[in-house]
Amino acid sequence: MINKLIAQTLPYFPKKFVWIFSKKYIAGETIEEAILASKQLNDKNITVTIDLLGEFIKNIDEARENKNDYLKIIEHFEKNNIKGNYSLKPTSFGLLIDKDICFKYILEIVAKAAEHNNFVRVDMEDSSCVDLEIELYRKLKAEYPKNVGLVVQAYLKRTPSDLEKLMDLHSDEFPLNYRLCKGIYVEPKEIAFKDPAKVNEMYLKNLEYLLTNKVFVGIATHDKKLIEGAYEIINKHNIPKEQFEFQMLYGVTPDLRKSIIDKAYSMRVYVPYGKEWFGYSTRRLKENPKMASHIIKSLFVR
Ligand code: FDA
Repeated sequence: MINKLIAQTLPYFPKKFVWIFSKKYIAGETIEEAILASKQLNDKNITVTIDLLGEFIKNIDEARENKNDYLKIIEHFEKNNIKGNYSLKPTSFGLLIDKDICFKYILEIVAKAAEHNNFVRVDMEDSSCVDLEIELYRKLKAEYPKNVGLVVQAYLKRTPSDLEKLMDLHSDEFPLNYRLCKGIYVEPKEIAFKDPAKVNEMYLKNLEYLLTNKVFVGIATHDKKLIEGAYEIINKHNIPKEQFEFQMLYGVTPDLRKSIIDKAYSMRVYVPYGKEWFGYSTRRLKENPKMASHIIKSLFVR
């Protein structure tokens, strides 16, 4: 109840107040701040994936601006020798307005990353985007088989079938590369599992399917039970360390993160930054009121 109330009223709070909790989860507003945060993570043996905030644009002109910003980011990050890659949300490039323009712009970004032998991860957004994002991924992978990956969501009932269908894109030379997460959006029960235990069961089922089929997986979670479950699968099937990495969000569960690094597993942190942090924070909160308890905590723990 209190979570829901905070989630609904937060967009009307002064920006400065919202920043008190947001700053823990966002690297800053500028490229310089994102580079600094990334360097600090690199120093701890953590790679990064950079995300420029700003999703679900209303006007297609914003798509070109976002594309140009990403091209600039790639230049800056490569010049600064940051150990990391790039994540993006297709709705920032107009996926739901004009999917051809969206494809054209993201292709340009992937081409730029490929020039540096680097990689772009296509984030998975809400269920209205899933078919379009899979289609987009197929087209991008056809052009740049080594330089692009997709996110898949364990809570969606369709995911096991999507994973099977997408295996036609997999080969030893150009393996598929996914980030597996639970899924953050509020979806209807007809299409998404709601029971947290069922979501975890599906997460581990999908993980085992992918790892035993030689797909690269970014194991994206802060859930201790899932991390333990992942260790079991990795040990049971002797999965080589090059075939997976763990991934976490900036500022979340740093102690758990360290415990994974101490086991000599690879860790990548998702680093969101940009001027759109206010919309991102409040939107995320509306999507997932459970976040409010983290916010209350961060008001006290600085
Ligand atoms: P769970 O939500 O159960 O969290 C486990 C514990 O972690 C909590 O009890 C809490 O202690 C801590 N925790 C989790 N989130 C926290 C937060 N925000 N602040 C503070 N503490 C927190 N989703 C999606 O739909 N599309 C996507 O593309 C991505 N991309 C993505 C990238 C990366 C690197 C990560 C880690 C996650 C995503 N997600 C995502 C989000 C994902 O789907 C999921 O909503 C969150 O990771 C939370 O789920 P957990 O698996 O961490 O478990």
